[in-house]
Amino acid sequence: MTGISIIATGSQPAAQVVTNDHLAKLVDTSDQWIATRTGIRQRRFAGPEEDTTSLAIGAARAAVEQLEKAGRGREEIGAVLVATFSPGSLVPSTACLVQRELGLPEDLFALDINAACTGFLSGLRLCQGLLAQQPERLALLVGAEAISRLVDFGDRGTCILFGDGAGAAVVAAGPDRPFFCAFGTRGDGEVLRCPGVRPGGGPGPVTMEGREVFRFAVDAIPKGIAAVLAQSGSSLWDIDWFVCHQANARILAHAAKAMGVPEERFFMDLDRYGNTSAASIPIALDEMAKKGLLKKGQRLMLAGFGGGLTWGAAELIW
Ligand code: UT7
Repeated sequence: MTGISIIATGSQPAAQVVTNDHLAKLVDTSDQWIATRTGIRQRRFAGPEEDTTSLAIGAARAAVEQLEKAGRGREEIGAVLVATFSPGSLVPSTACLVQRELGLPEDLFALDINAACTGFLSGLRLCQGLLAQQPERLALLVGAEAISRLVDFGDRGTCILFGDGAGAAVVAAGPDRPFFCAFGTRGDGEVLRCPGVRPGGGPGPVTMEGREVFRFAVDAIPKGIAAVLAQSGSSLWDIDWFVCHQANARILAHAAKAMGVPEERFFMDLDRYGNTSAASIPIALDEMAKKGLLKKGQRLMLAGFGGGLTWGAAELIW
């Protein structure tokens, strides 16, 4: 199967910084509880002028600007995929609106995908398939969410966890950039749920049995990673960075311990963004790239898990 590489990244944090102390004015909680149980210190919420579409466009624009700085062109883009479970509209898809706003070619493949927090990884797998057929084109993959619009601020076990934002990556076919991935689903309509549009009402709210999701996640991360390593032949020590869905620092600490990997090799930025679902991995990659943490040739393991229930992991070379 064709290899792929990420050749540009971008992100768009939502406008409003919401600290734990700020949330504690709305909900019966405290900075101390949230920070100890999750590692989150603040998150960002979409401002009145923002939604998933505008965040997706902002992140996509930043990634395309970086692409152009590197001497490539937006006319090379042949696919736009947006991973989200909180789209601003069902039709047109967010991907179609990104195409229009960025002036991308019309002869491209555009769609939104929903695998909740695993969505960005599912999107990478789709990019691999699309680029296998059109290796001369590029794919623009965005993860974008405005989850603050879908949470119940009366449900303190759920609302403290989520944040809004978007991250984007431009993906190219790369014969010398092997890509391995594994996915799974355990169909479950109870543990983590966000109802769709219903008669008389819009979508939401998100409901979650936190402990159950926690248990699922600490099992899914090592399982997904082991499935990928079995394909690639790499060992855990070959991996320079583990970039996982940013849901809870304790989940990542458990996973690191279960695999015997030092926690320092797990990138974490959830203290500042909270859980941004499909956006969390591309935001992390953009932040790592900007900080100079990612060096060409490094081996990355990405892992995601969440609603569905879904999980996925992917190994790629930066
Ligand atoms: O993207 C994937 C989606 N979701 C996840 O990954 C979530 C995974 N789960 C989690 O991160 C954790 O389960 C949570 C952070 C959601 C909850 O932490 P927990 O340690 O599992 O807490 P809990 O639900 O077991 O609740 C423990 C106690 C309860 O009080 P009692 O019954 O022991 O008196 C809760 O009522 O903490 C209470 N509690 C809170 N207290 C203060 C629950 N939420 C809060 C809160 N502030 N926000």
